[in-house]
Amino acid sequence: MKVEFMLNNQEVIYEVDPGEVLLDSLRKNHLVSVKRGCDSSTCGVCTVLLNDKPVLSCSLLTASIEGKHITTVDGLQKEIEEIAHYFGEEGADQCGFCNSGLALTIYALKKENPNPTDDEIKHYVVGNLCRCSGYQAQFLAIKRYLGGAK
Ligand code: FES
Ligand code: FES
Repeated sequence: MKVEFMLNNQEVIYEVDPGEVLLDSLRKNHLVSVKRGCDSSTCGVCTVLLNDKPVLSCSLLTASIEGKHITTVDGLQKEIEEIAHYFGEEGADQCGFCNSGLALTIYALKKENPNPTDDEIKHYVVGNLCRCSGYQAQFLAIKRYLGGAK
């Protein structure tokens, strides 16, 4: 079946199986910035934005996104460079496998709630797991990106 949607602000048409998940569709079409981790909705590395909200592409049927907007880090170069800058300065950038999913999540947080409390930040990113950083460096980087949360 054909599915037509907006990918990073460009109209695309993907030929997919009815049961295919978006993670597979994107990676098949060379969007390898979207990572595969657990494949079972628990790690967050496959996060993309669906109409500006973070979703897990490993558990989203591509057939369900007809006419919707999908954003990956490939479509947010300036924001992602800014996030990467703070991650680098805080030492939060280690193997980097979780970075693209987490960057999209905190970009969405900033749009949705530009002045979150510490607890709101933690709650928002709780689904983005990292096996390297211990989270504190990431948390400091996120706060700097957000411009100083309370
Ligand atoms: S690969 Fe999707 S949540 Fe882990
Ligand atoms: S930096 Fe390695 S998984 Fe997060």
